[in-house]
Amino acid sequence: MIRRFSANPPDPFSGYEAVNKIKAAVEDVCPGKVSCADILAFAVRDSVARSAGFTFPIPSGRRDGTASSAISVFSGIPSPFFSAQQLIDSFAAKNLSVDHLVALSGAHSVGVAHCSAFANRLRPTADPALDPAYAAQLSAVCPGGGADRAVNNSPVAPDTLSNQYYRNALAGRVLLTSDAALLTRGDTAARVNASAADATAWMARFAAAMARMAGIEVLTGAQGEVRRLCNVTNN
Ligand code: HEM
Repeated sequence: MIRRFSANPPDPFSGYEAVNKIKAAVEDVCPGKVSCADILAFAVRDSVARSAGFTFPIPSGRRDGTASSAISVFSGIPSPFFSAQQLIDSFAAKNLSVDHLVALSGAHSVGVAHCSAFANRLRPTADPALDPAYAAQLSAVCPGGGADRAVNNSPVAPDTLSNQYYRNALAGRVLLTSDAALLTRGDTAARVNASAADATAWMARFAAAMARMAGIEVLTGAQGEVRRLCNVTNN
């Protein structure tokens, strides 16, 4: 089933307001101590526990950056139009392996993608790696292919983090070029197959990869700052 969302649902808990709400509650009991980076990392851990029923250790002590720029963030993260080799290279640049890449991609069992992120796979002709029936459904819910609509990443159990993502990939029912790319090489495809077949083994790999990712380029000690509000730097 494909659920279609409007791009900006009126959700009072969306975006930075939700994070600032958590931050305000923490500040009430422990002012100036807990960074927004830690709050976000713990929120991700707890979301996984709630959605998928497993957890992993997230050390605390991160400090927040003293710059806040969407442009600099986006230049460091992989594009949905990347090939497998480009994905591998971009993860390697953060000391993440092919194992980590495939394990973490399972996060696309939840959440949404805007039509603009995968319209390239629908027009002018449907990507042959897409299940034709699924491609037709996607074309119908994304007539303009723009960012005004979003679709669940997973057509099955879209609110549960699970290894369903890998079964979707094998069935040609993943949205992004970068998702489908995992089946274009032997090493990544073998990991997709293994993760589809063994939910428990995938959970262990995902948990380890999340813990690893949570340690990338962390500011500690006197570096950075503890922000007062999470969406802006203190100065
Ligand atoms: C492998 C490289 C990756 C690429 C190219 C990628 C790209 C994307 C794109 C384009 C979207 C849709 C954004 C939108 O249209 O709103 C998305 C959604 C999402 N991604 Fe990834 N992603 C990658 C890896 C990851 C990883 C490692 C995680 C977490 C472990 C992750 C978690 C998510 C989640 C949860 C969503 C849904 C967000 C929402 O519902 O608003 N992704 N990703």
